[in-house]
Amino acid sequence: MALKMVEDAEERGLIKEGGTIVEGTSGNTGMGLALTAIIKGYKLICVTNDKQSKEKINILKAVGAKVVICPTNVPADAPESYYSVARKIARDTPNAHYVNQYENLANTLAHYKQTGPEIWKQTDGKITHFVVGVGTGGTISGVGRYLKEQNPKIKVWGIDTYGSVFKKYHETGIFDKNEIYPYITEGIGEDILPKNVDFKIIDGFTKVTDKDAALYTRKLAIEEGIFVGNSAGAATKGLLQLSNYFSKDDLVVVLFHDHGSRYVNKIFNDNWMNQNGFL
Ligand SMILES: Cc1ncc(COP(=O)(O)O)c(C=O)c1O
Repeated sequence: MALKMVEDAEERGLIKEGGTIVEGTSGNTGMGLALTAIIKGYKLICVTNDKQSKEKINILKAVGAKVVICPTNVPADAPESYYSVARKIARDTPNAHYVNQYENLANTLAHYKQTGPEIWKQTDGKITHFVVGVGTGGTISGVGRYLKEQNPKIKVWGIDTYGSVFKKYHETGIFDKNEIYPYITEGIGEDILPKNVDFKIIDGFTKVTDKDAALYTRKLAIEEGIFVGNSAGAATKGLLQLSNYFSKDDLVVVLFHDHGSRYVNKIFNDNWMNQNGFL
């Protein structure tokens, strides 16, 4: 989706040769943008928040990004929030383009054109349910739209976290500020309603606690040999919470967004787990 967002900006003339890409990212979109920037000769500034794992930040620096770190525990519209700082840097830097993965619909389009068809082909069109963590919403909206166009009976479930507005908004249409508080799970949940979350495509949300997300990330590694990230643990626990909706012959796909190596000093570190009361 990073490549698609940059190519879309090029087509619209929003970014020019030698320009600077600016993005607010917790790391994975940043990595995609960093690789795209290297290949295409752009500079990259990633603005992130202080709850993100050090590995993600160091990896971004390793591939040439400048990383600006903002506080996590501030409202989205505060001037020091990572959304506001990314906007300001893009405004103040000559020949810069703010990608904005939350509002940029090329994000959803990438998943509609690529991830959705991959899942459809790899399941021979037999998929019955798609379960995935929701952050910007690009994955669930793009994949969900593609799959439902192939078979309208396919159900699409989002994994949300406590401290995020998605589940309540989907169920009631109310953006409830009381739902917003700091949480630890990385990559999913929001305190805003990104344009990329297409609530009509989503059949329902389930919320997973920080502790469960962390413990299930560990369980995946130790019991299944699947070494994946924090939101994958949340997705797995969410999948189990939804088990009443599935029957024996269903083919349920759950998508894992990233690799466990980015969390070795957090989820896979006993001290960090103890500090957070997770063990
Ligand atoms: C680790 C992780 N999990 C989940 C997500 C959520 O995906 P999306 O933004 O497509 O909703 C992301 C997105 O960047 C992520 O990095």
